[in-house]
Amino acid sequence: MIHQLADVQSEQIGENTNIWQFTVVLPGAVIGEGCNICSHCFIENDVKVGNHVTVKAGVFLWDGITVEDSVFIGPNATFCNDRYPKSKNKEFHLERILIRRGASIGANATILPGVVIGENAMIAAGAVVTKDVGADMIIKGKY
Ligand SMILES: CC(C)(COP(=O)(O)OP(=O)(O)OC[C@H]1O[C@@H](n2cnc3c(N)ncnc32)[C@H](O)[C@@H]1OP(=O)(O)O)[C@@H](O)C(=O)NCCC(=O)NCCS
Repeated sequence: MIHQLADVQSEQIGENTNIWQFTVVLPGAVIGEGCNICSHCFIENDVKVGNHVTVKAGVFLWDGITVEDSVFIGPNATFCNDRYPKSKNKEFHLERILIRRGASIGANATILPGVVIGENAMIAAGAVVTKDVGADMIIKGKY
């Protein structure tokens, strides 16, 4: 189900995926089946989302982000792909982010560029993740 108030420009959306109001999905994005993409999200072009993924409200997935199956992304979690941002710098060095299968990211966590989050890891609400997180780890605060 794609809500009539969503702007979904990609045709690569899996079956039984719901995309709710005021979410924008750009044409290059790939989203799997059985996902729930809540309202007020943005999914850029170079983004892959697996199957059975939950993306809560207010999440922006920028170019270079890969989300594997069964990941949970809490509301207002923030992903960064540019380590040294400058206004209007289109030549920035994009560092990719990978969130492995079954990981959960708490509300308002910030994931810095280049990070890999391991399978079934749990990122606490409000955490700031600066480096790779191993499988099954629980991370709080600055890591
Ligand atoms: C990280 C988390 C899983 C830990 O849960 P838990 O193991 O039951 O932890 P507890 O509540 O027993 O707390 C253990 C300690 O960690 C601290 N803590 C818990 N969550 C924390 C967080 N997000 N950031 C920093 N410290 C945290 C507690 O204050 C406590 O510290 P203390 O031992 O000094 O008193 C949980 O707190 C969390 O952040 N979950 C994500 C919630 C979320 O964002 N949901 C999505 C939207 S609904």
